[in-house]
Amino acid sequence: MDKYAVIGHPIGHSKSPRIHALFAEQTGQDMAYEAVLAPLDGFADTVCRLVGEGYRGFNVTVPFKGEAFELADALTDRARRAGAVNTLKVQADGALLGENTDGVGLVTDLVNNLGVAIAGRDLVVLGAGGAVRGVLAPLLALGPASLHIANRTGARAEQLAQDFADLGPVTGGDLDSLKGRQAHVLINGTSAGLDDEVPALPDDLLHVDGGCYDMMYGDRPTAFLRWAAAHDAAWTADGLGMLVEQAAESFALWRGVRPQTGPVIRTLRPVQP
Ligand code: ATR
Repeated sequence: MDKYAVIGHPIGHSKSPRIHALFAEQTGQDMAYEAVLAPLDGFADTVCRLVGEGYRGFNVTVPFKGEAFELADALTDRARRAGAVNTLKVQADGALLGENTDGVGLVTDLVNNLGVAIAGRDLVVLGAGGAVRGVLAPLLALGPASLHIANRTGARAEQLAQDFADLGPVTGGDLDSLKGRQAHVLINGTSAGLDDEVPALPDDLLHVDGGCYDMMYGDRPTAFLRWAAAHDAAWTADGLGMLVEQAAESFALWRGVRPQTGPVIRTLRPVQP
Protein backbone atom coordinates (compact mmCIF):
# COMPACT_ATOMS: atom_id res chain seq x y z
CA MET A 1 0.00 0.00 0.00
CA ASP A 2 1.39 3.45 -0.94
CA LYS A 3 2.03 5.71 2.06
CA TYR A 4 1.63 9.51 2.32
CA ALA A 5 1.84 11.98 5.18
CA VAL A 6 1.25 15.58 6.15
CA ILE A 7 4.23 17.02 8.03
CA GLY A 8 3.97 20.04 10.32
CA HIS A 9 4.54 21.41 13.81
CA PRO A 10 2.02 21.38 15.41
CA ILE A 11 0.03 18.82 13.45
CA GLY A 12 -2.50 17.37 15.91
CA HIS A 13 -5.51 19.29 14.60
CA SER A 14 -4.83 18.74 10.89
CA LYS A 15 -7.89 17.76 8.87
CA SER A 16 -5.73 16.42 6.02
CA PRO A 17 -5.72 12.73 7.10
CA ARG A 18 -9.53 12.73 7.17
CA ILE A 19 -9.78 14.52 3.80
CA HIS A 20 -7.35 12.13 2.06
CA ALA A 21 -9.03 9.07 3.62
CA LEU A 22 -12.36 10.29 2.17
CA PHE A 23 -10.72 10.88 -1.24
CA ALA A 24 -9.11 7.41 -1.20
CA GLU A 25 -12.39 5.74 -0.30
CA GLN A 26 -14.29 7.67 -2.98
CA THR A 27 -11.79 6.90 -5.77
CA GLY A 28 -10.95 3.34 -4.66
CA GLN A 29 -7.24 4.12 -4.21
CA ASP A 30 -5.31 1.73 -1.98
CA MET A 31 -3.25 4.14 0.12
CA ALA A 32 -2.53 5.26 3.66
CA TYR A 33 -2.16 8.87 4.84
CA GLU A 34 -1.10 9.99 8.29
CA ALA A 35 -0.06 13.12 10.20
CA VAL A 36 3.60 13.35 11.21
CA LEU A 37 4.98 15.82 13.75
CA ALA A 38 8.49 16.90 12.73
CA PRO A 39 10.80 18.57 15.27
CA LEU A 40 11.21 22.29 14.50
CA ASP A 41 14.85 21.69 13.53
CA GLY A 42 14.21 18.34 11.86
CA PHE A 43 12.03 18.78 8.76
CA ALA A 44 14.59 17.59 6.17
CA ASP A 45 15.63 14.62 8.35
CA THR A 46 12.00 13.60 8.76
CA VAL A 47 11.37 13.71 5.00
CA CYS A 48 14.55 11.69 4.30
CA ARG A 49 13.59 9.05 6.86
CA LEU A 50 10.06 8.70 5.47
CA VAL A 51 11.29 8.51 1.87
CA GLY A 52 13.63 5.73 3.06
CA GLU A 53 10.61 3.95 4.50
CA GLY A 54 8.93 4.05 1.08
CA TYR A 55 6.54 7.02 1.46
CA ARG A 56 5.39 8.32 -1.95
CA GLY A 57 4.48 11.93 -1.13
CA PHE A 58 3.90 14.59 1.50
CA ASN A 59 1.80 17.58 2.31
CA VAL A 60 3.75 20.24 4.13
CA THR A 61 2.22 22.74 6.50
CA VAL A 62 3.21 25.43 9.00
CA PRO A 63 6.07 26.18 9.56
CA PHE A 64 7.88 24.08 6.95
CA LYS A 65 6.64 25.31 3.54
CA GLY A 66 9.80 27.38 3.00
CA GLU A 67 12.07 24.50 3.97
CA ALA A 68 10.17 22.18 1.62
CA PHE A 69 10.82 24.72 -1.15
CA GLU A 70 14.55 24.53 -0.38
CA LEU A 71 14.56 20.74 -0.10
CA ALA A 72 12.77 19.96 -3.39
CA ASP A 73 15.01 18.72 -6.22
CA ALA A 74 12.66 20.21 -8.83
CA LEU A 75 9.89 22.82 -8.62
CA THR A 76 6.75 23.50 -10.62
CA ASP A 77 6.31 27.05 -11.94
CA ARG A 78 3.65 27.88 -9.40
CA ALA A 79 5.77 26.60 -6.50
CA ARG A 80 8.65 28.77 -7.73
CA ARG A 81 6.36 31.81 -7.85
CA ALA A 82 4.87 31.04 -4.45
CA GLY A 83 8.33 30.65 -2.89
CA ALA A 84 6.80 27.84 -0.86
CA VAL A 85 5.95 24.16 -1.29
CA ASN A 86 2.91 22.47 0.27
CA THR A 87 3.14 19.23 -1.73
CA LEU A 88 6.10 16.92 -2.34
CA LYS A 89 5.97 13.97 -4.72
CA VAL A 90 8.61 11.27 -4.61
CA GLN A 91 9.43 10.55 -8.23
CA ALA A 92 10.46 7.17 -9.71
CA ASP A 93 14.16 7.99 -9.33
CA GLY A 94 13.66 9.12 -5.72
CA ALA A 95 13.92 12.84 -6.51
CA LEU A 96 11.46 15.20 -4.78
CA LEU A 97 9.15 17.33 -6.93
CA GLY A 98 7.86 20.43 -5.11
CA GLU A 99 4.42 21.86 -5.92
CA ASN A 100 2.17 24.49 -4.36
CA THR A 101 -1.56 23.79 -4.57
CA ASP A 102 -2.75 26.46 -2.09
CA GLY A 103 -3.47 29.15 -4.67
CA VAL A 104 -5.22 26.87 -7.08
CA GLY A 105 -7.24 25.54 -4.13
CA LEU A 106 -8.45 29.05 -3.28
CA VAL A 107 -9.29 29.88 -6.87
CA THR A 108 -11.14 26.60 -7.45
CA ASP A 109 -13.21 27.14 -4.31
CA LEU A 110 -14.03 30.74 -5.27
CA VAL A 111 -14.88 30.04 -8.88
CA ASN A 112 -16.26 26.47 -8.99
CA ASN A 113 -17.84 26.06 -5.56
CA LEU A 114 -18.94 29.60 -4.73
CA GLY A 115 -19.54 30.92 -8.26
CA VAL A 116 -17.65 34.16 -7.55
CA ALA A 117 -16.64 36.24 -10.61
CA ILE A 118 -13.03 37.45 -10.58
CA ALA A 119 -12.49 38.67 -14.16
CA GLY A 120 -12.92 42.44 -14.40
CA ARG A 121 -13.48 42.77 -10.64
CA ASP A 122 -11.62 44.74 -7.97
CA LEU A 123 -9.91 42.43 -5.51
CA VAL A 124 -8.41 43.36 -2.15
CA VAL A 125 -6.17 40.89 -0.36
CA LEU A 126 -5.24 41.46 3.29
CA GLY A 127 -1.81 40.30 4.46
CA ALA A 128 1.59 39.95 2.84
CA GLY A 129 3.04 36.75 4.29
CA GLY A 130 3.62 33.35 2.76
CA ALA A 131 -0.08 32.54 2.60
CA VAL A 132 -0.77 35.55 0.38
CA ARG A 133 2.32 35.05 -1.79
CA GLY A 134 1.02 31.56 -2.59
CA VAL A 135 -2.32 32.74 -4.00
CA LEU A 136 -1.37 35.82 -6.03
CA ALA A 137 -0.41 34.13 -9.31
CA PRO A 138 -3.59 32.00 -9.61
CA LEU A 139 -5.77 35.04 -8.70
CA LEU A 140 -4.07 37.29 -11.26
CA ALA A 141 -4.42 34.56 -13.90
CA LEU A 142 -8.22 35.07 -13.72
CA GLY A 143 -7.91 38.65 -14.99
CA PRO A 144 -9.19 40.92 -12.19
CA ALA A 145 -9.50 44.66 -13.01
CA SER A 146 -7.25 45.30 -10.00
CA LEU A 147 -5.70 43.44 -7.10
CA HIS A 148 -4.63 45.54 -4.14
CA ILE A 149 -2.61 43.98 -1.31
CA ALA A 150 -3.00 45.76 2.04
CA ASN A 151 -0.88 44.87 5.03
CA ARG A 152 -0.23 46.18 8.54
CA THR A 153 3.41 46.56 7.44
CA GLY A 154 2.92 48.38 4.14
CA ALA A 155 6.43 47.76 2.80
CA ARG A 156 5.85 43.98 2.68
CA ALA A 157 2.74 44.49 0.54
CA GLU A 158 4.58 46.90 -1.76
CA GLN A 159 7.37 44.35 -2.21
CA LEU A 160 4.91 41.57 -3.02
CA ALA A 161 3.13 43.78 -5.56
CA GLN A 162 6.48 44.48 -7.21
CA ASP A 163 7.31 40.75 -7.32
CA PHE A 164 4.05 39.94 -9.15
CA ALA A 165 3.70 43.09 -11.28
CA ASP A 166 4.52 41.16 -14.47
CA LEU A 167 1.41 39.00 -13.98
CA GLY A 168 -1.27 41.70 -13.77
CA PRO A 169 -2.55 44.98 -12.27
CA VAL A 170 -1.32 44.49 -8.70
CA THR A 171 -0.60 47.23 -6.14
CA GLY A 172 0.34 47.19 -2.47
CA GLY A 173 0.26 49.43 0.58
CA ASP A 174 -0.49 49.73 4.28
CA LEU A 175 -3.98 49.55 5.79
CA ASP A 176 -4.47 53.30 5.22
CA SER A 177 -4.13 52.62 1.49
CA LEU A 178 -7.58 51.00 1.68
CA LYS A 179 -9.26 54.40 2.15
CA GLY A 180 -11.49 55.18 -0.83
CA ARG A 181 -11.31 51.64 -2.26
CA GLN A 182 -14.29 49.41 -2.94
CA ALA A 183 -13.70 45.67 -3.12
CA HIS A 184 -15.88 43.24 -5.06
CA VAL A 185 -13.92 40.43 -3.47
CA LEU A 186 -12.13 40.93 -0.13
CA ILE A 187 -9.81 38.08 0.88
CA ASN A 188 -8.24 37.76 4.32
CA GLY A 189 -4.81 36.15 4.18
CA THR A 190 -3.53 37.51 7.51
CA SER A 191 -3.02 35.41 10.61
CA ALA A 192 -4.83 38.01 12.76
CA GLY A 193 -7.70 35.53 13.20
CA LEU A 194 -5.46 33.30 15.32
CA ASP A 195 -5.85 36.03 17.98
CA ASP A 196 -9.52 36.48 17.03
CA GLU A 197 -8.62 39.88 15.55
CA VAL A 198 -9.33 41.71 12.28
CA PRO A 199 -6.97 44.24 10.65
CA ALA A 200 -8.37 47.80 10.96
CA LEU A 201 -10.55 48.21 7.84
CA PRO A 202 -12.58 51.17 6.54
CA ASP A 203 -16.33 50.66 7.08
CA ASP A 204 -17.09 51.33 3.39
CA LEU A 205 -14.47 48.93 1.96
CA LEU A 206 -16.98 46.50 0.49
CA HIS A 207 -18.70 47.23 -2.80
CA VAL A 208 -22.47 46.87 -2.51
CA ASP A 209 -22.13 43.47 -4.26
CA GLY A 210 -18.87 42.70 -2.45
CA GLY A 211 -18.18 39.45 -0.65
CA CYS A 212 -15.60 38.23 1.84
CA TYR A 213 -13.39 35.14 1.85
CA ASP A 214 -11.30 34.12 4.86
CA MET A 215 -8.42 31.79 4.00
CA MET A 216 -8.59 30.62 7.60
CA TYR A 217 -11.35 28.45 8.94
CA GLY A 218 -12.64 27.45 12.31
CA ASP A 219 -15.60 25.69 13.82
CA ARG A 220 -17.09 29.11 14.55
CA PRO A 221 -17.23 32.14 12.20
CA THR A 222 -13.84 33.87 12.25
CA ALA A 223 -13.40 37.47 13.45
CA PHE A 224 -13.02 38.55 9.81
CA LEU A 225 -16.28 36.86 8.78
CA ARG A 226 -18.04 38.46 11.73
CA TRP A 227 -16.73 41.81 10.41
CA ALA A 228 -18.10 40.85 6.98
CA ALA A 229 -21.55 40.06 8.34
CA ALA A 230 -21.61 43.33 10.30
CA HIS A 231 -20.74 45.21 7.06
CA ASP A 232 -23.47 43.58 4.94
CA ALA A 233 -21.22 41.39 2.79
CA ALA A 234 -23.16 39.92 -0.16
CA TRP A 235 -21.55 36.55 0.56
CA THR A 236 -18.99 35.07 2.96
CA ALA A 237 -16.89 31.92 2.98
CA ASP A 238 -14.20 30.48 5.19
CA GLY A 239 -11.15 28.49 4.08
CA LEU A 240 -12.57 24.99 4.46
CA GLY A 241 -13.28 24.76 0.72
CA MET A 242 -9.75 25.97 -0.07
CA LEU A 243 -8.34 23.33 2.27
CA VAL A 244 -10.25 20.53 0.56
CA GLU A 245 -9.48 21.83 -2.95
CA GLN A 246 -5.73 22.13 -2.31
CA ALA A 247 -5.83 18.58 -0.96
CA ALA A 248 -7.61 17.38 -4.11
CA GLU A 249 -4.86 18.93 -6.26
CA SER A 250 -2.18 17.16 -4.21
CA PHE A 251 -4.09 13.88 -4.43
CA ALA A 252 -4.38 14.27 -8.22
CA LEU A 253 -0.63 14.93 -8.51
CA TRP A 254 0.17 11.77 -6.54
CA ARG A 255 -2.51 9.40 -7.81
CA GLY A 256 -3.49 10.71 -11.25
CA VAL A 257 -7.18 10.85 -10.23
CA ARG A 258 -9.01 13.99 -9.14
CA PRO A 259 -11.56 13.26 -6.40
CA GLN A 260 -14.92 15.02 -6.11
CA THR A 261 -14.60 17.73 -3.48
CA GLY A 262 -18.23 18.75 -2.89
CA PRO A 263 -19.22 15.69 -0.84
CA VAL A 264 -16.04 15.98 1.26
CA ILE A 265 -16.62 19.69 2.00
CA ARG A 266 -20.19 18.87 3.05
CA THR A 267 -19.01 16.02 5.29
CA LEU A 268 -16.46 18.22 7.06
CA ARG A 269 -18.58 21.37 7.41
CA PRO A 270 -19.65 21.69 11.05
CA VAL A 271 -23.40 21.87 11.47
CA GLN A 272 -24.32 25.46 12.38
CA PRO A 273 -26.70 25.74 15.32
P1 ATR B 1 1.74 33.29 6.75
O1 ATR B 1 2.82 32.45 6.17
O2 ATR B 1 0.63 32.55 7.42
O3 ATR B 1 1.21 34.26 5.75
P2 ATR B 1 3.29 35.37 8.05
O4 ATR B 1 4.31 35.40 6.98
O5 ATR B 1 3.72 35.43 9.49
O6 ATR B 1 2.41 34.06 7.99
O7 ATR B 1 2.25 36.53 7.76
C1 ATR B 1 1.22 36.86 8.62
C2 ATR B 1 0.43 38.02 8.02
O8 ATR B 1 -0.66 38.37 8.90
C3 ATR B 1 1.25 39.27 7.83
O9 ATR B 1 0.76 39.95 6.71
C4 ATR B 1 0.95 40.05 9.14
O10 ATR B 1 1.14 41.44 9.02
P3 ATR B 1 2.64 42.06 9.20
O11 ATR B 1 3.36 41.79 7.90
O12 ATR B 1 2.42 43.51 9.44
O13 ATR B 1 3.26 41.34 10.37
C5 ATR B 1 -0.52 39.74 9.29
N1 ATR B 1 -1.03 39.88 10.66
C6 ATR B 1 -0.83 39.04 11.70
N2 ATR B 1 -1.48 39.46 12.81
C7 ATR B 1 -2.13 40.60 12.46
C8 ATR B 1 -2.99 41.53 13.17
N3 ATR B 1 -3.31 41.35 14.45
N4 ATR B 1 -3.47 42.58 12.48
C9 ATR B 1 -3.15 42.77 11.17
N5 ATR B 1 -2.35 41.95 10.46
C10 ATR B 1 -1.85 40.88 11.10
